[in-house]
Amino acid sequence: MSGKRVFSGMQPTGKAHLGNLIGAFNNWVSMQDSYETIYCVVDLHAMSTPFEKTDLSEGRLRLAKMIIAAGVDPKRSLLYYQSEVPQHAELYWILGTLTGVGQLQRMTQFKEKSDRAGQGFGILAYPVLQAADILIHKVHAVPVGDDQAQHLELTRDLATRFNSRFGEVFPVPERITPEIGARVMSLQDPDSKMSKSDPNARATLFLDDSDDEIRKKIRSAVTDTGTEVAYDWENKAGISNLLEIFAYFSGRSIDDLAAEYGTGGYGNFKSAVAESVASGVKPIREAYEGMSDAEVVEVMRASAATAREMADRTMDDVRAAVGLS
Ligand code: TYM
Repeated sequence: MSGKRVFSGMQPTGKAHLGNLIGAFNNWVSMQDSYETIYCVVDLHAMSTPFEKTDLSEGRLRLAKMIIAAGVDPKRSLLYYQSEVPQHAELYWILGTLTGVGQLQRMTQFKEKSDRAGQGFGILAYPVLQAADILIHKVHAVPVGDDQAQHLELTRDLATRFNSRFGEVFPVPERITPEIGARVMSLQDPDSKMSKSDPNARATLFLDDSDDEIRKKIRSAVTDTGTEVAYDWENKAGISNLLEIFAYFSGRSIDDLAAEYGTGGYGNFKSAVAESVASGVKPIREAYEGMSDAEVVEVMRASAATAREMADRTMDDVRAAVGLS
């Protein structure tokens, strides 16, 4: 162990998908070997866009289970619900006093979502709560997909701003992204990222999809009209996306796969990708289905108690630094 800490989180909205696995969970799991790892189901974040009560409570448990099924080991990592550690929200308020409204209004996610019906102030405040999630544990690294780059920049900014105004309290955390799959794209529109909320059911591969659903979705993935399997994001985004996914599940290099499948036709290539994904996702789905709710509830409760103690130690430093003690 390096003595360094890692934090990451995921929102319990919709179901976990291949982008979450390759862009985030894979690093969450591998970092358990060398870091003190802290992972969080960010249920307060899931309230920042309009939500239903039952979706929220069922979604939290489903996601906690899926994170464990994907390989996060609760004996080696802390895994808890954000709302059970109220220090996240306390630090969020203090960091909010250091954040410019203009800076928040310029965030991509705010621009995309703020004019939706029923949207409240949470969508503006969202990135400040994310910064608090990370800083409350004084972590050194944050494994996320590419889409979180802007939020991580704000976090680094706020840590630096806080430290220069009140004295060194927070390490400035690094963003960790995977070499391949930092941005897994939609199977139906390879110019947009794969997302939980895509209305097109074939665009997103969920981690609890059956083997048949996986085969169907990959076979119907949108590609260009050519025939050559080549890694070329500009002209062959659909094929390049599938090559990255294939490389992840097969453990082989993209060059090697492109050389083997280059001239064999898209049909043959897609079947091979589908079989590789189906056999890679199967153990996750089976672990998920085999897990009881009760054991996960207990894990989440115990971890939250530890996280509250850790977070309170940071808040002692923060309160002292800003003049609240
Ligand atoms: P969320 O819940 O949208 O996604 C969870 C993680 O999955 C990654 N991800 C992807 N990676 C590759 N390709 C994709 N298509 C793809 N879609 C999602 C995300 O980058 C993320 O790592 N704001 C965060 C949640 C959050 C958080 C935090 C993350 C709240 N507090 C503190 C890290 C640290 C979010 O909405 O992620």
